[in-house]
Amino acid sequence: MNDKLPHILLVDDDTRTLEVMAAALAGQGFEVTPAATPGTALKLIETSQFDAVVTDVVFDGFAEGAAVLKASRARLPEAIVILMTGYPLIEGAVSAIKMGASDYIQKPVDARTLAAYLHRALRERQIDMPGLEFGDLVEILSGMVAHTIERVDPYTAGHGSRTRKYCRFLAEDIGVERSRRERLELAAIAHDYGKIYLDDLGFLTKNGPLTDAEYKEVQKHPMLGARKLGNHESLREVRGYVAEHHEKWDGTGYPHKKKGEEISVEGRILGVVEVFDSLSTKRSYKDVWPLEKVLEFFAEQRGRAFDPDVLDRFLVLLERHGAKWMKEPAADRAAAAAARSSTVPG
Ligand SMILES: [Fe+2]
Repeated sequence: MNDKLPHILLVDDDTRTLEVMAAALAGQGFEVTPAATPGTALKLIETSQFDAVVTDVVFDGFAEGAAVLKASRARLPEAIVILMTGYPLIEGAVSAIKMGASDYIQKPVDARTLAAYLHRALRERQIDMPGLEFGDLVEILSGMVAHTIERVDPYTAGHGSRTRKYCRFLAEDIGVERSRRERLELAAIAHDYGKIYLDDLGFLTKNGPLTDAEYKEVQKHPMLGARKLGNHESLREVRGYVAEHHEKWDGTGYPHKKKGEEISVEGRILGVVEVFDSLSTKRSYKDVWPLEKVLEFFAEQRGRAFDPDVLDRFLVLLERHGAKWMKEPAADRAAAAAARSSTVPG
């Protein structure tokens, strides 16, 4: 392990904020170089090495944070870039990610939250490092999802981790061997990560059905997610399962209209399980479905959307755990809301 402290360039034209934040980050395990103007930051980017650049987006009414971001991308391609934005959450997320930022944080910025983002983003950068164990990848992918897609759409808080848990139950029941089951668990955590890279995130929290154009856009997320999982060799199958999670047994799914056993068994398990979690969760466009309605839906889709054998095994699990699992999404959403309000002021 590298015991050198991560070196952070912190850019903000409010000198008081800059001082306070620099001191707070220094206390959280970082070496911090402050810059009070974009010009100073650009010079430092030319002459020094940084592991991360944290920059305000607007200086005196001009979006010069974009110039700092661009220079960082060109000169320090390995560095994490986090934008501090005064824009509302969704617009801020979209523009920051599109501009190539690793993450965004809404102002006013809490130093502990920023430190947590930096530590997570520095971990995410390690996704392609050799020698990562299953536990490391669980931690990295969980952090990626919790701080991006599940933050933009709070209704999905915990969707990845619950899907992972149910996949584990089902894969163990079916007898999927351990290394394959672990890859499935990783795919379960990250299956919707691609949504953060869609062109418009507004409709993820839309109150009502999607238009045809929006639905077409959403259909890009399995492939986007698979692509964003890095090139780590042990994630090769994981990328495949993420790409398959909206394929259907009868060939009417997306993106490739795979049919029957063309879809891996892991992809078929993930398909059943993630639909269960979506139906048992309140979303911006729908309420929680009661268990009886979920079971009716599954009965109707047996052999259509879902592999009948995989579904039957899951239905047995639901007989045993269904009532308990139905209560978990609301508890996870409340926990995520409590965590947000205790770490992000304003
Ligand atoms: Fe999905």
